[in-house]
Amino acid sequence: MDLSLNIADGLMLNNPVMNASGTFAYGREFSEIFDLSIMGALIPKALSLGPRQGNPAPRIVEAPCGLINSIGLENIGVDAFLKRELPFLKGFKVPIIANFFGESFEEYIECASRLTVDGINALEMNVSCPNVKSGGLEFGRDKKVLSDLVRMVKDKTTKPIIVKLPPIGGDIVELALAAQKAGADALTCANTFPAMAIDEETWKPTLANYVGGLSGPAIKPIALRFVWDIHTKVDIPIIASGGISSYRDVIQFLLAGASAVQVGSMSLRDPLCFKEIIEGLRAYMALHHIESINDIVGKLRS
Ligand SMILES: Cc1cc2nc3c(=O)[nH]c(=O)nc-3n(C[C@H](O)[C@H](O)[C@H](O)COP(=O)(O)O)c2cc1C
Repeated sequence: MDLSLNIADGLMLNNPVMNASGTFAYGREFSEIFDLSIMGALIPKALSLGPRQGNPAPRIVEAPCGLINSIGLENIGVDAFLKRELPFLKGFKVPIIANFFGESFEEYIECASRLTVDGINALEMNVSCPNVKSGGLEFGRDKKVLSDLVRMVKDKTTKPIIVKLPPIGGDIVELALAAQKAGADALTCANTFPAMAIDEETWKPTLANYVGGLSGPAIKPIALRFVWDIHTKVDIPIIASGGISSYRDVIQFLLAGASAVQVGSMSLRDPLCFKEIIEGLRAYMALHHIESINDIVGKLRS
């Protein structure tokens, strides 16, 4: 049985299961619980040019079948990551995908260029970040802005570029096509969904930031639909993200056209879920006599 797959040049995975950025920090805590070398790839927390403190607390709240977060992209910054965390992560001999963002075109470009180093196999662009110079509209909401951004970043790096699409704001298929045309090597579908929680006793918003992003099983059927919609239109690999919690979910996303998956919220509830999911995939393939994981991708029957 072969669980390996190729996302792009330089991004060959031993299996299709990665963590999602933001629910795994820089991997240190998880590495105390299981061997990170079992993972298909490792994706540290989103990186910006300089360190960021993020939003004030409370910044995470449970929701029915998921959670709402407004972390505000807290991170240690690109340079501290390269110096302190990358050497540690490289030890696991698993591809590393650096998730990054900026508040301007220049910041995205500078981050991409600094992250173009040995030991980083690909860059995942988080485009759900406000473009401060253009009135705060998210980069990923407009296909012209998105394609300009992808093109400029692509020019600055030799690493494969994965564009992580926002789930709402524009037509996600149009955004996917724009990213592909601009040179994206793969897509992650999708980021969290805009959401809110209110405390009916205090009459106040539960999150200090008022609003946040919904993740977890609550968004899975919508993410599945997006993957299917995009798969029928684009030629580049799709990495699914949204509520994936079991090997069954992975199979469903592969059938819809994803080549690989990311697991986020579920790993906060059960940090060992990655192991279970990978073992579940292997058992499923043995039971169904499937030789290669690639034989499942996009094979939804009518
Ligand atoms: C606490 C938290 C922090 C997150 N931080 C990031 C981030 O830094 N960069 C990013 O691209 N996505 C971030 N996300 C989105 C996840 O990577 C993932 O796309 C999303 O949660 C959907 O997957 P899930 O339902 O498996 O959690 C974050 C999600 C959560 C719950």
